[in-house]
Amino acid sequence: MATKNAMAGRRALVSGASSGIGESFARRLARSGYDLILVARNKERLESLADELQSRHGVEVKVLAADLTKTQALRKVERAIEADEHLEMLVNNAGFGTMGRFAELDPAVEEDEIRLNVLALMRLTRAALPGMIQRRRGAVINVSSMAALQPGPTTATYSATKAYVNSFTEALHEELRGTGVQVQALCPGFTRTEFQERANIDASGLPDFAWMDPEDVVEASLAGLNGGDVVYVPGLLNRFLATTVTSIPRPVARRILGTAVRQVLR
Ligand SMILES: NC(=O)c1ccc[n+]([C@@H]2O[C@H](COP(=O)([O-])OP(=O)(O)OC[C@H]3O[C@@H](n4cnc5c(N)ncnc54)[C@H](OP(=O)(O)O)[C@@H]3O)[C@@H](O)[C@H]2O)c1
Repeated sequence: MATKNAMAGRRALVSGASSGIGESFARRLARSGYDLILVARNKERLESLADELQSRHGVEVKVLAADLTKTQALRKVERAIEADEHLEMLVNNAGFGTMGRFAELDPAVEEDEIRLNVLALMRLTRAALPGMIQRRRGAVINVSSMAALQPGPTTATYSATKAYVNSFTEALHEELRGTGVQVQALCPGFTRTEFQERANIDASGLPDFAWMDPEDVVEASLAGLNGGDVVYVPGLLNRFLATTVTSIPRPVARRILGTAVRQVLR
């Protein structure tokens, strides 16, 4: 494990660091000696995590409380990124999902989902890349989902936002060849966080083996980054499912999912 001295001056910004996968990224990167900027709406949670990580690992941790669906707050985070000459990693992790028949969902919430999962991720990446390219080092991890791999009846907007994340990240990977800057679209499957509860998804019927812990997702992501994986699905079972889903013709996969969902929502 790298010491603070070996990593001195390296900084990572993690969005959605107040819980789940983002909190695990923050913990793991602090343990590796990264200074951190933690972003989310819940300031108290961020400050408590910052205090803990500073005293435990001797790293510098700043808190930027921001609702990334709001233009002014997003600008504040963009400016912090642009001004940071030591930013080595951006983890675009903040995101949420909605579930239900699209025609019945609240359009304002669907819009916020796109603002957070797509627009904020795009803007923060755009803020980070020029500096990273100039310094010839850096990495952007865009937290996507296995939901990106096929259209999602009852998660239409969510799946579409994550399809954007994968396409965007893959395109950037090609643009960034030879610059020293890496990008990854991280596609977790079911992960034990607050995500399902916030999305009103009842996943209690899922067997234990279908779930990953956020710490394992993060560890796999960073290993994947070292290995140069661009679209990275963590976990053996998830990789098997991803290969299966993407090898079935898309109209067939779509139809199977749609039929299954109609049985459940009947
Ligand atoms: N858990 C899963 O099964 C799963 C599977 C695939 C992909 N993912 C993806 O993983 C990422 C992290 O989710 P998670 O599973 O860790 O869920 P989570 O525990 O609900 O964490 C979501 C994080 O995003 C932050 N956030 C939400 N709305 C925000 C906003 N408007 N502005 C700023 N921050 C906001 C939340 O903090 P505040 O409430 O404090 O703002 C929280 O820190 C998401 O992009 C999600 O799509 C999760």
